[in-house]
Amino acid sequence: MNKEGKKEEIGDRFQQETKYHRGRLPAWHLDWASKPESYKRYPAAPKVQLEPPNLEGGASLWEVLRSRRSVRHFKDEPMTKSELSQLLWAAQGITNHESGFRTAPSAGALYPVETYLVVNSVADVEPGVYHYAVDKHELEQLRAGDLRLSVAQAALDQEMAYHANVIFIWTAVFERSRWKYEQRAYRYVYLDAGHIAQNVALAAVALNLGSCQIGALYDDEVNALIGVDGVEEGVVYMTAVGKEE
Ligand SMILES: Cc1cc2nc3c(=O)[nH]c(=O)nc-3n(C[C@H](O)[C@H](O)[C@H](O)COP(=O)(O)O)c2cc1C
Repeated sequence: MNKEGKKEEIGDRFQQETKYHRGRLPAWHLDWASKPESYKRYPAAPKVQLEPPNLEGGASLWEVLRSRRSVRHFKDEPMTKSELSQLLWAAQGITNHESGFRTAPSAGALYPVETYLVVNSVADVEPGVYHYAVDKHELEQLRAGDLRLSVAQAALDQEMAYHANVIFIWTAVFERSRWKYEQRAYRYVYLDAGHIAQNVALAAVALNLGSCQIGALYDDEVNALIGVDGVEEGVVYMTAVGKEE
């Protein structure tokens, strides 16, 4: 029972059981031989090259922060491939090629989050499902076809995913973080995803686009759409991006 006399459920126990206590930190004996890879690759998938991001000038950070709002109604007009490139780089682009460090911070620099896209309407990019190869700044095509309806249904039937230009789907490869942080890893995975999604939300404003975060989703419908098992790797968050109506 908790203080309010309610039965403790899994979330309550998780929060308590993953606390750090002074003097009782876990003994980290990292087994470097079993450290998971930080990058997922689909070697056989057709590749879509992206132009390098434009890192000069742009909208003022303060103006972007002031004007960000969740946008759920989108115009029926494609975004450009260079806008998509810019959004992907904002999400997880590598900013130091020696260390592999990226635009968004990650607990222990373990980078458990992977980016997938459902492309509905992006000029010069065939509609379908893609994986973002972070280290190459390129897309790997996993499925071709109009998946608007499937992605909207998987997003708890939210119509905005049908009308968005692109839907970012963030998964976590849990073992990348669990390898070091054990059960506390689950806290960090969700925090990592939040940083990444916020980068995209701000980049969208800077590009005159609108976005909305999506936490309400049918997990295994999203997992099936992008072809991950929902156990070793599973969806944690989504973001719809498009041109504001
Ligand atoms: C973790 C999280 C999950 C969310 N999931 C959804 C969602 O599934 N559908 C939706 O319409 N908005 C979703 N939102 C957007 C919130 O409703 C929105 O951020 C909030 O109403 C504040 O409005 P603002 O973003 O315009 O400032 C989500 C936001 C967060 C942070």
